[in-house]
Amino acid sequence: MSDILTDIDQGVMTITLNRLDKKNSITTAMYAAVADALSAAQADPAVRVAVLQGHETVFCAGNDLADFLNAGPVGPDAPVFRFLQVLSTFPKPLVAAVCGPAVGVGTTALFHCDLVYAGDNAAFSMPFVNLGLCPEAGSSYLAPRLMGFARAAEALLLGEPFLAEAALEMGLVNRIVPPAEAAALAQRQARKLATKPLASLIETKRLMKRGQAEVVAERMREEGASFARMLGEPAAREAFASFLGKRRPKAA
Ligand code: COA
Repeated sequence: MSDILTDIDQGVMTITLNRLDKKNSITTAMYAAVADALSAAQADPAVRVAVLQGHETVFCAGNDLADFLNAGPVGPDAPVFRFLQVLSTFPKPLVAAVCGPAVGVGTTALFHCDLVYAGDNAAFSMPFVNLGLCPEAGSSYLAPRLMGFARAAEALLLGEPFLAEAALEMGLVNRIVPPAEAAALAQRQARKLATKPLASLIETKRLMKRGQAEVVAERMREEGASFARMLGEPAAREAFASFLGKRRPKAA
């Protein structure tokens, strides 16, 4: 079965990360598939809302670390950057259902979702520094603004996880429910949105993001250049190899 499932029903496109054996970590091919799905959702007048979800035990373990280890030079046209660009500029409402671990891009993607429904088992983390990397998806800009600098520093500098209650309090998620109910709640809310005038939804989202969109696009370019460079550096390569080799990282 495919690692990315898409389905369109009643004006809602649902995109499901479906690579449970690797905790829904995202490969290059999966970034390309999600970017294609979102682009199709944007262009298709029959799609009014998109939903992004994983499994009730895990949302997403971030980028596939084997892909990172094997990655050659990452250019601006790489699927990961296409995914981030489409996600961050998606004009229609975007709803997420998040349960279990949401690591790296599993958390930063949520900064670009409009409504987020979390299972009470959700655990968010952005351990870029621990991996010898730096933030992506505009999170170096968006996290301090959403969370406040102090909490963003714990999350981004220390790489400390935070749980569903903290995410609710800071406004990253809308509601916490038992994990088995998160996907259904996201669908209900998406279907409510799908009955509303699409032009009004699109214009309202555009106005709500006005001013921020340009800054985020510029920050994502800067993050992307640093991230791509750091992927090849020894700290990152040792972090990836030690995770995949199930051993402790060697001290630098
Ligand atoms: N890339 C590649 N493989 C991954 C992965 C990732 N990001 N995350 C998990 N996997 C793989 C593991 O290597 C393991 O594969 P195996 O069964 O072939 O040995 C399998 O998925 C299960 O992972 P495991 O770590 O045993 O599951 P867990 O339930 O104990 O822990 C996580 C789940 C998500 C907390 C843990 O897997 C994790 O921390 N993953 C890495 C997260 C990360 O650093 N992401 C990058 C952010 S930029």
